[in-house]
Amino acid sequence: MADYLDRIGAGKILVDRSPLSYDWTPSTLVGRDDSLSELASIFSQIENPDTSCKAVITGPVGSGKTVLTQVFANDLRRHLEGRRKIVHVHVNCRNHPSGPQVLQQIAISLDERHPERGFSAGEMIQSIKRYLRTHGAHMLLVLDEVDVMIRRDSTDLIYRLLRIDEGQNERGTMSIILVSQDSSLLRLFEPAIISRLGASSRVNLHPYNKTDLLQIARQRAEASCIKGSIGEDVLGKIARYAAESGDARLAIELLEAAIIRAEKEGKGEVGIEDIHPSKIRSASVEPNQVDDLTEHKKLILLAICRRLKKEDMVSSGDALKLYHVVCEEFGFEPRGYTTFWKHVKSLEQSGMIESQTASATKGRGRTQHITMSNMSPGVLETRLSSVLSPN
Ligand SMILES: Nc1ncnc2c1ncn2[C@@H]1O[C@H](COP(=O)(O)OP(=O)(O)O)[C@@H](O)[C@H]1O
Ligand SMILES: [Mg+2]
Repeated sequence: MADYLDRIGAGKILVDRSPLSYDWTPSTLVGRDDSLSELASIFSQIENPDTSCKAVITGPVGSGKTVLTQVFANDLRRHLEGRRKIVHVHVNCRNHPSGPQVLQQIAISLDERHPERGFSAGEMIQSIKRYLRTHGAHMLLVLDEVDVMIRRDSTDLIYRLLRIDEGQNERGTMSIILVSQDSSLLRLFEPAIISRLGASSRVNLHPYNKTDLLQIARQRAEASCIKGSIGEDVLGKIARYAAESGDARLAIELLEAAIIRAEKEGKGEVGIEDIHPSKIRSASVEPNQVDDLTEHKKLILLAICRRLKKEDMVSSGDALKLYHVVCEEFGFEPRGYTTFWKHVKSLEQSGMIESQTASATKGRGRTQHITMSNMSPGVLETRLSSVLSPN
């Protein structure tokens, strides 16, 4: 989106907004040295070209699972430079919950021109192997939010990938890190998968305490704002609020909202009165998850967000009307009701919205009420507007 949106206020506080976004990867992690060491010991033999490693990372929302895998993959790649070439592929299974979708994502990240259809799983796996062999590379595959795949009962692919070298004269093709919020779900894997994962491959992340959250907030504040514009009292208040859930994401959201508020008022520093925790809902869905949605799902979600910014819920009928308005705005031909509703249900499945049958229903059909409790409609709206371009 246009740069002007990065400069929301007087510019007396904020220098760079990007460290406040979810996608920003800090160069050092706060309070996770032990977890990084645990991962390092699971991967201790990785330098050997015949070796593949497997790890499982669990922990609640905002405990840093995703960022841990990113920092670890970056460090590992650098550490092995000149000795073993690592290709890091990160797939979020919430966005790509079926086996074919995951394979497609892997193929695209190796070659962005990879055709969309027409290959069986076996063929895709062969072509991934071929790529790695010709490039002399080892893949580090991170399947993030893998619990979504387990819930949908599509774990067959994980099994196939874990056995990728079995029965062949090959070794060391792929290392896999599975990431899940819900550690109990992993028990639902078939014994064949559990035994291949190994007992000692688990890294469990605890929620952050106040001291960690203070440092995380400080790290973002220093990376994004003018020195001295955010006091320790402000960071302390943010840390105290976020410590109730131990969610780093909440700390960062509170900080961002406070900075924006102070900027808008033309202040030169953020005060503790700029922190409004009640307006921020705990987020378990990340805004960047909308990037991969199909155009019409984005349009529908944008329509819903616009209403939910102002009201707690939107009826299915209103959502449809608002979707038509958004389609017109962006120059798309609206889809019919059946497709619209299919998309709404699929957005619900991915955890972005919820729908409930309204108690009072009038006319034909049953009115549904759509709500969004996993994330802030305002944050999502901004993201959607930036990724949707006029047709
Ligand atoms: N130890 C940490 N140090 C610095 N930033 C962190 C740390 N843990 C989490 N974060 C930041 O907090 C946000 C949420 O972390 P994330 O990895 O997405 O959590 P999870 O995947 O467990 O939900 C991200 O922006 C991440 O960069
Ligand atoms: Mg995550």
